[in-house]
Amino acid sequence: MCGIVGYIGEKKAKPILINGLLRLEYRGYDSAGIATIENNEIKNIKNKGRVSELNNISEINSLNGTVGIGHTRWATHGKPSSLNSHPHMDNSNNFAVVHNGIIENYSDLKEFLKSHKYKFLSETDTEVIPNLIHFNYKNSNETGENKFLKAVIDTCKMLKGSYAIEVLSAYHPDNMIVVRKDSPLVIGKGENECYISSDIPAILSFAKDFYLLNDMEFAYISKNNVKFYNDKAIEINKEIKNITWDAGSAEKDGYPDFMLKEINEQPKAIRETIGSRISLDSKTNIDDFNFNKKYLQSITKIFIVACGTAMHAGLTGKNIIENLCEIPVEVEVASEFRYKNPIITQNSLCIFITQSGETADTIAALKLAKTKGAKTIAISNVIGSSITREADYTIYTHAGPEIAVASTKAYTSQIVLLAIISIYFAEILGKNPKKIEDLKNNILKLPSHIETILKDTTKIKDFAKKIFKEKDVFFIGRNVDYPVAMEGSLKLKEISYIHSEAYPSGELKHGPIALIENNVTVVSILTNRLLLEKSISNIQEVVTRGAKTFIVTNQELNHEFDEVIKIPKTNALISPVLSVIPLQLLAYYISKEKGLDVDKPRNLAKSVTVE
Ligand code: G6P
Repeated sequence: MCGIVGYIGEKKAKPILINGLLRLEYRGYDSAGIATIENNEIKNIKNKGRVSELNNISEINSLNGTVGIGHTRWATHGKPSSLNSHPHMDNSNNFAVVHNGIIENYSDLKEFLKSHKYKFLSETDTEVIPNLIHFNYKNSNETGENKFLKAVIDTCKMLKGSYAIEVLSAYHPDNMIVVRKDSPLVIGKGENECYISSDIPAILSFAKDFYLLNDMEFAYISKNNVKFYNDKAIEINKEIKNITWDAGSAEKDGYPDFMLKEINEQPKAIRETIGSRISLDSKTNIDDFNFNKKYLQSITKIFIVACGTAMHAGLTGKNIIENLCEIPVEVEVASEFRYKNPIITQNSLCIFITQSGETADTIAALKLAKTKGAKTIAISNVIGSSITREADYTIYTHAGPEIAVASTKAYTSQIVLLAIISIYFAEILGKNPKKIEDLKNNILKLPSHIETILKDTTKIKDFAKKIFKEKDVFFIGRNVDYPVAMEGSLKLKEISYIHSEAYPSGELKHGPIALIENNVTVVSILTNRLLLEKSISNIQEVVTRGAKTFIVTNQELNHEFDEVIKIPKTNALISPVLSVIPLQLLAYYISKEKGLDVDKPRNLAKSVTVE
């Protein structure tokens, strides 16, 4: 969850590291630090609080080194404090390490090091790493580069858990070693310089050519050369990948926050995700997919596995796949799926959705499905991310970098992609041609429909002003509207800290209605004509008990409600792509009214790389 950044080149490292950390802050933001090397000495400055606070410390301007590492933290072991912040140094101050991940056997390693007279200053798991490197370095018979490399490799072999680490050494002031295992890390290559980062967008304005590290690959970096080694210290070749995302797409572009920018980018994200995959007069085409009718007919169950918002996209995907392909679909939360011994056979197809491609539980769930013989498809937004290297097939949403912690454009793009996959399967299976035609027509209209919704958001903003001080908000919907209610509720709690719950409208009477009293807000999504009357009755039941109502609908309503937001009509299966937009905006405006940090809500992180 933490963000790590590194620089090695001819420029002063400090401003580059601060710039990278500011862009990585969405991964964690309770403390930050940087270390650089100067005159064969490591200088390390770290602090509790945001990166901007670190940058305000006057001594930081004295860091003149051209080799450096930086870290922004999301605390796991040890509270946010200066001592627990990274970089961590070994007892001799000759090695500095930043780390993202969790060292599961750190207690044993700490005891081992204590028995060799090492002392610990922090409560973190990370502090064992620089000390182990020092221990292995001191006891090594190697010389030169090899001594540093072998000390890091030997250390990593002693670590259990997940890590992406950068190591500086005062003995090797012109180099840095980086390695990853189950945590992301990329190296950007420039002219006589290298940039290291947890993800590509943070360094996109500096580099276009990237090396994507695989697990247990060690990079020995100098300013004009990167050498890669496996865990036996044998040199290996790695391809460089050119990334075509433009750097501006990771900037706020005049918007006050990334979240508002990303909400507004949804028409573009969906256009790009559709690309040339569907058209009205030809079969759906998905690069790298080579499924045939016989295989698809053999599939008895599809699993969709994901976390958070991506799981909500999966719930809508289930409706679409079951409707078009007539194959039963189960949607599972990844952290549950991986520990429940799911009944997966060779006749199961497993789809994993993850914007970042780095969510630890989702990756572990995919590995599990593979061991059981199922074919696996990853849906991700990040090219070359970890999950894409594990899956049998990868299909990308082309939403562009999503920076705000609360996911918006990734969610709607994921639903569109699931619809495209469903159409692709149904076409091969020869099922439901009429439904497919209507769905294709409507998918192509989604971007302009979203533009219509975004044109005037005054009513949503005004309603936010009325309810931003509330303690509880309920979201209800039936059928295709229920997963959207769940997503709207998640958005609200994530960024406004208002308690909220989502229920299928028909379930209200079975308990939750006891919580409805004067002035409680109930948000309802009503896009299903067939269930309209039933849903209205459910809303009347809460109105009678004093609730305020905010309705998102594409139907004509003959009843008075506190606020009604009309959205364009579309095929019911993909209506969540439209009905979620007012809910994203409602959460956004409420958070703004409360004066909160919309992009970086408390306790959360964008990319959850720990279990
Ligand atoms: C975190 C984020 C959510 C996201 C979830 C899954 O909880 O805060 O916004 O939906 O992780 O992330 P993924 O990258 O796997 O889609």
